[in-house]
Formats: sequence, C-alpha cells, structure tokens
Amino acid sequence: MQTEIGKDIQKAADFLHNNSPVAVPTETVYGLAGNALDVRSVLNIFEIKNRPFFDPLIIHLKNIDEVEKYTLSFPDRARLLAEKFWPGPLTLLLPKNELIPDLVTAESERVALRMPAHPLTLELLHLLDFPLAAPSANPFGYISPTTAEHVYKQLGSRISYILDGGPCEVGIESTIVGFEDETGPITIYRPGGISSEDIEQYCGPVSFYSETSEKTIGAPGMLKSHYAPKTPLFIVNLHEITHQTSFSPEKTGIIAFSEAVPNIPERNQWILSPRKDLKEATTNLFSAMRQADEAGFTIIYTEHFPEEGLGRAINNRLRRAEAKN
Ligand code: TXA
Ligand code: MG
Repeated sequence: MQTEIGKDIQKAADFLHNNSPVAVPTETVYGLAGNALDVRSVLNIFEIKNRPFFDPLIIHLKNIDEVEKYTLSFPDRARLLAEKFWPGPLTLLLPKNELIPDLVTAESERVALRMPAHPLTLELLHLLDFPLAAPSANPFGYISPTTAEHVYKQLGSRISYILDGGPCEVGIESTIVGFEDETGPITIYRPGGISSEDIEQYCGPVSFYSETSEKTIGAPGMLKSHYAPKTPLFIVNLHEITHQTSFSPEKTGIIAFSEAVPNIPERNQWILSPRKDLKEATTNLFSAMRQADEAGFTIIYTEHFPEEGLGRAINNRLRRAEAKN
C-alpha cells in the first residue's frame, strides 16, 4: 500500500468513509483514526496496530454537545472538567449507550471520550457525521508517535493516509479519568497531559488507579510494559552510572531532565529541558526515547523526574518502558 502524507482533510475524510483508517494529529500524540460507529473500521484499526481486542479505544468528538449522543449520563463533575479542559488532553470514562460498538470499549460499559485540541483534526471531525476512534498510531506496545514521520516509519505501507499536523505540542497521551460514585474522589486511570493538580482545582482530591488495587474496571492500556523502546531502558541515579565497572560511555544513551552526565559524549545525551520545565520535558520525551532507541546503544539510562505536575505522567511512561526488562 502506498502511504501518502499531506494536509488534505477532504482526502482524509474520503478514506475514513471507506473504512480505511487514517493517522491524524492531536495535541498529545498522533492517533490512528477510524469511524467509531462502524465495526469494520474499528477492526481495521486493531489489525493495523496489532492491538489485542482487550485494549479499548478512545473516541474523539468534535464538541462537548456530542457527549450526550453516545452516553447514558454526563455527571456534573465530568461536564465541568470537559468545559474546563476541552478541547485538550483529558479523556472521560462515561457509561456508553448502544451506538458505541462493544469492540471499541473491549466489552466495558464505559466509553472513553475526548475532544482533541488540534485545528486540522477538529476541522476533519466537522466534515464527518461520525466520531473517530483513535488509539495512538504506533504498533502495540511501542512508543507513541509525536510527528507524521514517526507514524510513517512504523505504519507506513499499512495505512493510506497520514494527515500531517506538525509535531505534537503536548507530546504525551491524555489524562484518563473516571467517576466511580457521585461523591467520592474521581479516579485518574492514566496520568497524562493534564496534571492531577489541575484537575483537583475543580473536583477536589483525586485518587490514582493502581493495578494492584481490587477494582474490577481498569484501564487495560495500563499494561505494565508499554511505551517501550527496544533498547533496555533503566531509571537510575544518573550521578552514579559512570562509577560502574561495566560502564561503556560510547554504548550508553542518556535521557536526562535538565543536565548532561559528565564523561559521556554529548551526542549520546537527550536533555529534555535545560530550564527544568516539566511541560517542555514532556513535549520532548517520546521523540528522545525514539532517537535514543534508534542510535544503537546497548543501554539507555534515564532518571526519576519530580513526582508532581506533568512529572507524574513522565515517570509513569518511563516506568512502563523500564518494565519490559
Ligand atoms: O492522547 C490520547 O489519549 C491519544 C490520542 C490519539 O488521543 N490516544 C491514546 O490512545 O492514547 P491509546 O489507545 O494509546 O490508549 C487508550 C487507552 C486504553 O489503553 C485504555 O487504557 C484507556 O485508554 N481506555 C480506552 N477506553 C477505555 C474504556 N472503555 N475503559 C477503560 N479504559 C479505557
Ligand atoms: Mg497507545
């Protein structure tokens, strides 16, 4: 299959009408989009990504009013968050109605909804009379793409069209929240582009979903190993690595928050934000992981980021990348 990269939303719409998935830009990461209401489209997405059917898809809407079209209820707190953060990197888990195929939600009664903040994809959604199911546009388990080229490298020849919206501004996936009961804390299932502190400003203290807790409804994408480069990656104290006996500076890649590690070539190091800005570090994270992975190192070392604000989402992705080892 010939894969084209371009900015033609009409062309993207034509492919989508034919159940042929298209890669689309969002502010978080690129998504592999298809008609969320058509099982054939959704099946094609799973197949192209090599994604197991137990891992449900997020649906992208053109505006807040669409929420009620596809859900049984829209609790006040969910509406408040949507009004505050949409379009933006926040996904709401809400009870689905019969329009949403069970395949999209992996049989769960809740559907994941968000309105993305990317002008091209919003324009595209306005051309369509269906919402878009879109997981990140990477092969299952690998690092999410933040440029059209990333998508092309991995899914090129498997899809017809990549809508090129430039590099993703947020650079990490959306924060996923659920509303288990009306009065209790809301649950963060996946930390992401909106920090828990920002959410707490509107909804009070949140709780974090943990894989080991007894809850029955999880976020299957919270699989332990995910976002993983092929090169082994470890989270360490970067000040200590050069003391190890087996240390080989040429073969070591570094992904650091703000400072380079002495005695390792500069070209081996990705400094995500010299000015210690977590937002900037988040934007650069996945691209750095990819480049480091492609550089042929035997090992990649990274460090713990501050466990606050967007640092939580960064640490979450790094832990999952490390879990592969
Ligand atoms: O920022 C994002 O959210 C990006 C862009 C493309 O919008 N999308 C994304 O999709 O990260 P994906 O497929 O890589 O992650 C979707 C995850 C699932 O793995 C699961 O954890 C959660 O969202 N999810 C989706 N539907 C769910 C549901 N019905 N119940 C629980 N979790 C759900
Ligand atoms: Mg993904």
